[in-house]
Amino acid sequence: MRDINQFTITEAVKKTFKTEPGSRFEQLLRGFIDHLHDYTRENNVTHAEWMGILNFLYDCGQISTPERHEFILLSDVIGFSALVDMINTKGGATEGSNLGPFYLDNAPRMKLGGNLSDGREGVSVLVHGRVTDSLHNPLPGAIVDTWQADASGTYPIQEQEQGQDKYDLRGVFEADEQGRYYYTTVLPKPYTVPYDGPVGRLLRAGNRHAWRAAHLHYIVRAPGMSSITTEIFFDNTEYLDNDAVFGVRKSLIAKLGPASKVDELGYSLERKPDAVCKFDFVLAPEG
Ligand SMILES: [Fe+2]
Repeated sequence: MRDINQFTITEAVKKTFKTEPGSRFEQLLRGFIDHLHDYTRENNVTHAEWMGILNFLYDCGQISTPERHEFILLSDVIGFSALVDMINTKGGATEGSNLGPFYLDNAPRMKLGGNLSDGREGVSVLVHGRVTDSLHNPLPGAIVDTWQADASGTYPIQEQEQGQDKYDLRGVFEADEQGRYYYTTVLPKPYTVPYDGPVGRLLRAGNRHAWRAAHLHYIVRAPGMSSITTEIFFDNTEYLDNDAVFGVRKSLIAKLGPASKVDELGYSLERKPDAVCKFDFVLAPEG
């Protein structure tokens, strides 16, 4: 390795890793080194720039907590998350969209027809639909795990210091025998992704805003099916065309309508809704 130079170092580095030949790990590691070295050579990266990149990543780590994952946010604003979502959406299934930085495992189980908003101010909306396979067969017992911001665009988890319960505006529902899920909640508002950290500096440096179109988050799963992580957007919300994390897809925009005919749906609801949003989730088989 004494004759190493800027043109031979890439192969030399790759050779030092004794990975299992043909393994996925080998493929991802070698690809990463190839692209990182190419980027460095093509751009003649200086010492100051190299240290700037490393310090930026260091700052992302420093500001991260169990409730704030700055690296997910970084991935979101540079379209890395959206690209992974797009590549991994299965044919016929609901399109995937951002997990975002605020997901919490073990959200409370709730009964169908329950009210997620628990006395919060804002427009009460019935969110309902079916979970099916791609042939429209219902998936009874499918799990619909949801979390969202409130009517001011804030996640309760962001206001724990002000006495908010981090599990507020989160719930896990089980679809009925017809694959239906339904619950009421408060209509979320658009919000800005956290921009008081390194990712915010990146957005400002690129003259970008931090706003997200109003949305509801979901993870939907059922036995034998591939789970999906996605978001539902509302047709009348701002930022559908310039969402800060590239989460919007045409197929994920739901129409928000009046609740005048809600009684015809036959749901037993804990709270009377002002508006209705219908969205069906489609899961593809596992594998
Ligand atoms: Fe969100």
